[in-house]
Amino acid sequence: MKEEIKAYNNVLELIGNTPLIKLNKITQKMKGNYFAKVEAFNPGHSTKDRIALYIIEEAEKKGILKPGDTIIETTSGNTGFSIAMVSIIKGYDCILAVSSKSSADKIDMLKTMGAKVYVCPAHVSADDPRSYYEIAKKIHSEIKGSVYINQYFNELNIDAHYQSTGPEIWEQTAGKITHLIACSGTGGTISGTARFLKEQNPNIRVIGIDAYGSVLQKYHQTKEFDANEIYPYRIEGLGKNLIPTATDFNIIDKFEKVTDESSAHTARELAKTEGLFVGYTSGAAMQGIKQLEEEGEFDENSNIVVIFPDHGSRYMSKIYNDEWMSQQGFFDSETAEIQQIEYIK
Ligand SMILES: Cc1ncc(COP(=O)(O)O)c(C=O)c1O
Repeated sequence: MKEEIKAYNNVLELIGNTPLIKLNKITQKMKGNYFAKVEAFNPGHSTKDRIALYIIEEAEKKGILKPGDTIIETTSGNTGFSIAMVSIIKGYDCILAVSSKSSADKIDMLKTMGAKVYVCPAHVSADDPRSYYEIAKKIHSEIKGSVYINQYFNELNIDAHYQSTGPEIWEQTAGKITHLIACSGTGGTISGTARFLKEQNPNIRVIGIDAYGSVLQKYHQTKEFDANEIYPYRIEGLGKNLIPTATDFNIIDKFEKVTDESSAHTARELAKTEGLFVGYTSGAAMQGIKQLEEEGEFDENSNIVVIFPDHGSRYMSKIYNDEWMSQQGFFDSETAEIQQIEYIK
């Protein structure tokens, strides 16, 4: 019998079908069964691979994108990396406007992946001409044959997760999922995944994780945009200072807010307890679960699925750096970790 070579045609074929991994130690004292959908297993190490591939292929199908065209996006890093990766394989130019809050590692990675990067000030309002939204719009208007992905206001962001993340979780849990917990930034992940899951079982509870300093929770509760809610925070990719149309607020049952400090410590705890080296918002999602459990959200029969959006390697100069943690005031006498490194001279 002739043996076939077992190889993927390119890296894009590895997008999606990420594993669902049971959480054991960090949840030991908590009611319910906990499972993490670990999106770092995507080839671009984040959930954003799904939307980059889906949105670009939809544009190709509609004849909007032709070889050699330019793809533009605003991104805290992950979406940019995924778009740059897809652009390389498919032969597009990639221009990214990123927030100055993004880690230096993320910006260097985007450059490595061949993207042209504009770094824009983080603490200006969304309609300020220097904001990364306005810069991206301006570049888009200046380059003929360019496509602006616009993930915060693109319905295809929701569709990408409706078509992939939702069905995968339904299948992996054999339809036994009772709760979906996901960070909300653009809202694409939670909205698309929840839309599919609630179509299968409308009783599934859907809870979004938001940051203190973001307007999402208040908007969900009151339908009012309250600018007083806005102040700078450190978690990248979660919460927002505007209302994204890629968030379906009606499908989300509630939002839980988490702090920068507790999320950073919980991300470190995930590494030490479960061996899962995941990003800052994964720590935030797990921190949200801890709070929800204390509030009595779960019981013994709950099957809770949490989405961990990206990999820990993107935060080496931030939450996984002791100096950074100290500078933020996140290490005090109680929380400071025992020194694990000894230098032999
Ligand atoms: C690290 C990280 N976590 C969470 C999210 C939130 O996902 P979504 O934009 O689908 O709501 C993002 C996206 O912005 C992200 O980059």
